[in-house]
This record gives sequence, C-alpha cells and structure tokens, in this order.
Amino acid sequence: MPPCRLGLKIFCIVMALGAAGASRAAGDAARGKPLAYTCLGCHGIEDYKNVYPTYSVPRLVGQQPDYIVAALKEYKSSDRSHGTMHAQAATLSDQDMEDIAAYMAGTPLKSIGSVIGTPPAKVAQLCVACHNKDGVAASGEYPSLSGQHADYLARTLEEYKRGDRKNAVMATFVTQLTATDIRQIADYYAQQKPALQTLERRSSLFSAKN
Ligand code: HEC
Ligand code: HEC
Repeated sequence: MPPCRLGLKIFCIVMALGAAGASRAAGDAARGKPLAYTCLGCHGIEDYKNVYPTYSVPRLVGQQPDYIVAALKEYKSSDRSHGTMHAQAATLSDQDMEDIAAYMAGTPLKSIGSVIGTPPAKVAQLCVACHNKDGVAASGEYPSLSGQHADYLARTLEEYKRGDRKNAVMATFVTQLTATDIRQIADYYAQQKPALQTLERRSSLFSAKN
C-alpha cells in the first residue's frame, strides 16, 4: 500500500474508517419510538433553539442511523461537550441508541446527483470524499449535511476547531478553514437537497400544529 500523504490522505482516512465501521445490526424503530419521546421535546419542534449560546437544534430525519449512534456515544463519553445531550445519552444502552436512531432517522437521504449553487472551492478540495458535493453522506459513518440548519453546521465546525468536539478526522480538516470558509460552507450545505428534516412531534398541548 502506498504511504498516506498528500492527495492520498483523504483516501486513506476513508479506507480506515470504512474498515472500522463495517457491519452493525439495524435498530428496531418500533422499540425506539417510545424511547425517543423526550428527545422530541427539542428535536421534534421545527426551528427549536439551544440557549446560551443560541443556535438551532439539529435535524435528524434522513440522517444516517449509524452516525446518530456514534454521535450519541460521543455525548455519553463527553468526546462532544454538551451538558444536555450528555445527560440525555448517559442512561441509554447501545441497543437503545440503535433503536432510537432507526426511529428518528427514518429513511436515510439518497443523493439525487445535482447541487444548488456553486460549491465553495474548499468543499471540492476537502469535504466531498465523505460528505459529497450535495452534502449527502458518502456512507453510514458520516453525517449528511444537506438541509441541516446553517447555524448548527457553523457551530459544529467551530467546535471541532476548538476541540470541544474531539474527532480526529474532522480535526484535520477544520484547521484549513477560516471563519469566512465556515460561514460559506455552512450556508452552501444548508441549502442543498434532498434536505434533512425535523421529526414533528404529534399531539402536543404546546404545539400549534396538531
Ligand atoms: C433540551 C433539548 C434536547 C433534548 C431533550 C435532546 N436533544 Fe439532542 N441535541 C440538542 C442540541 C442543542 C444538540 C446540538 C449539540 C451540539 O452542539 O453538539 C443536539 C444534538 C443531538 C445529536 C447530534 C446530531 C448531529 O447532527 O450530530 C443527536 C444524534 C441527538 N441530539 C439525539 C438526541 C436524542 C436521541 C435525544 C433523546 C434521548 C435527544 N437528542 C434529546 C438538544 C436536545
Ligand atoms: C474522511 C471523511 C471526512 C471528510 C473528508 C470530512 N468530514 Fe466532516 N465528518 C466526518 C465524520 C466521521 C464526522 C462525524 C465526526 C463526529 O463523530 O463528531 C463529520 C462531521 C462533520 C460535521 C458535523 C455534522 C453534524 O451533524 O454534527 C460537519 C458540519 C462536517 N463534518 C463538515 C465537513 C466539512 C465542511 C469538510 C471539509 C472541510 C469535512 N466535513 C470533511 C468525516 C469527514
């Protein structure tokens, strides 16, 4: 195998992740539904905001279930620092996470092979191997970004930069992004289709929609 450097770097990381993420049992969405009840208090309300600092709660419908499980494990272990999500994930077993992910994600997004607008140069150079030009995940371990809230995407990139999210792969790529790049990339991916969506919470006393 050739050495992992220069242009081969991204390829090598992709191969290493692919090998590590192979084969996982699918979750049971029916079991996940009641477990996800409290989650919808935030993730089930369109445009719901985290407070201090203020940014949008991420959309999960259409996301990759394997990625949702990985994210929950990172909140549980505090590789991602977020007090509320740590508390939410701390009591979940691996099976709970699989089942909740199957319920909340629904059918993962599939690329339709076209983009809206022109991808920023750094997207083409650095991001497409895993997130594609349209933001639809290249495989299950990666998050889809298309249609995600722009302010949430920008926030996460800043967190990888600061080390508040500890992820070796993303840490490598964000070092190459300026504040302007982050804004442009977040806006670009947020407007792509097919888009991630919010799982609307049904029959709530507090929701005007139901
Ligand atoms: C009080 C509001 C709130 C509740 C309740 C809540 N979340 Fe979250 N969730 C958030 C916020 C805010 C974030 C973004 C955190 C960050 O900045 O990393 C988040 C992030 C996530 C992510 C990461 C998404 C991504 O794109 O990386 C997943 C997955 C998730 N939550 C699942 C859940 C599940 C499952 C539950 C229920 C067990 C739950 N959340 C309950 C507010 C909430
Ligand atoms: C080699 C694969 C790879 C490449 C290339 C890559 N990423 Fe990622 N990206 C990932 C993985 C894996 C995660 C999940 C990390 C974690 O668990 O927190 C991620 C997470 C993210 C997130 C957080 C999404 C969320 O829902 O919380 C954003 C935003 C993101 N990447 C944007 C980018 C951008 C912009 C680039 C190019 C500058 C890029 N990525 C390049 C693999 C990659």
